[in-house]
Amino acid sequence: MFFVQNLVNDFNNIFSEDREEIKRIFFSPGRVNLIGEHIDYNGGKVFPCALDFGTYGIVTKREDKKFRVYSKNFENLGVIEFDIENLVFDKKDDWANYVKGIVKSFLDRGFKIDSGANILFSGNIPNGAGLSSSASLELLVAIILKDLFEIDVDMIEMIKIGQETENKFIGVNCGIMDQFSIGMGKKDCAILLNCETLDYEYSPLILNDISIVISNTNKKRELSESKYNERRASCEKALAEIKEAGFEIENLCELTNSDFEKVEKYIVNKEDIPKIKHVISENERVKESIKALKNNDIERFGKLMNQSHISLRDDYEVTGFELDTLVEASWNTQGVVGSRMTGAGFGGCTVSLVKNDCIDNFIEKVGEEYQKRTGLRAEFYIAKAGDGTRKIGEMR
Ligand code: GLA
Repeated sequence: MFFVQNLVNDFNNIFSEDREEIKRIFFSPGRVNLIGEHIDYNGGKVFPCALDFGTYGIVTKREDKKFRVYSKNFENLGVIEFDIENLVFDKKDDWANYVKGIVKSFLDRGFKIDSGANILFSGNIPNGAGLSSSASLELLVAIILKDLFEIDVDMIEMIKIGQETENKFIGVNCGIMDQFSIGMGKKDCAILLNCETLDYEYSPLILNDISIVISNTNKKRELSESKYNERRASCEKALAEIKEAGFEIENLCELTNSDFEKVEKYIVNKEDIPKIKHVISENERVKESIKALKNNDIERFGKLMNQSHISLRDDYEVTGFELDTLVEASWNTQGVVGSRMTGAGFGGCTVSLVKNDCIDNFIEKVGEEYQKRTGLRAEFYIAKAGDGTRKIGEMR
């Protein structure tokens, strides 16, 4: 709570007029995906978990219609102000567009928001690292609005609002995995989510002598948004072509590896064929991984993670030199059960399963090898699965 008290003090300095008011305090985690990459928007099954670090929000309600928001992660941008009567995307408002977008989506759905708020944000998810700092912020704003304006909205709807805001207001055609895992996260559990039906199941992460280690390439994701939208468009085009050929499917992930051989000839752009192969094979790997976990066969789970990386590297082409170097260095290090890129790719983080007594050596050796080959310093976090977006309490 010491950390939160400090944030409240920061709030009191920035919004000094509210010093005496009671502040509401909220938290929203980041997420890491263990397996099932780039298939949420293809109706596939994914296996992410929420993290025990994320974004905090300290909030007071205002009487007027203004939102005044400040992020400790972007202190140079100062307090950003907007009015609930003028909610349009504005590049110069940078990160605050996420806040604006969520407010707008709530209003568009007919929820009553009749005044503004002062909010201080602070996150310990590295920005642009592929651990979903943006979805974390979206869900955080949603829970703040729900609490502040006593809105009758459940978590699943807030998750959908988060995705919709990202698609329509921000312009990234993401799937629902990030918002879902962040909103529905549960301590010590991963979530097996069927992205077509939104059926889900918690799976306790009992890894015994193994930990989940996240390694950050510290390579900023470049053009990741446009390349992401491009991949998604390739999938949609191929799906339309396969349906046109007479296959009765709604999503690519309804196909199995053996179906792939039957449908590949209908994909017009030949460069897209390996991309579709990735989508179908990745969904199969998720199903295999769940079986492996149920049989306590963590070695098999690790091998599937490795195969997932190879498929994302060679077929889907979303990795790049830094991610590949970090994963290869991990594969070559003692005590590593499996390692792969996680999230959208094009930079960002990897996720590895590492035996507990090998973690120190892993951090040292992988860090050294990565720096030698890329000139960049990697950062390492031992990930713990945490609870989803929530109100923490109130404080003066
Ligand atoms: C990003 C998107 C998700 C998902 C992953 C790739 O994180 O926001 O919806 O598509 O990339 O698996």
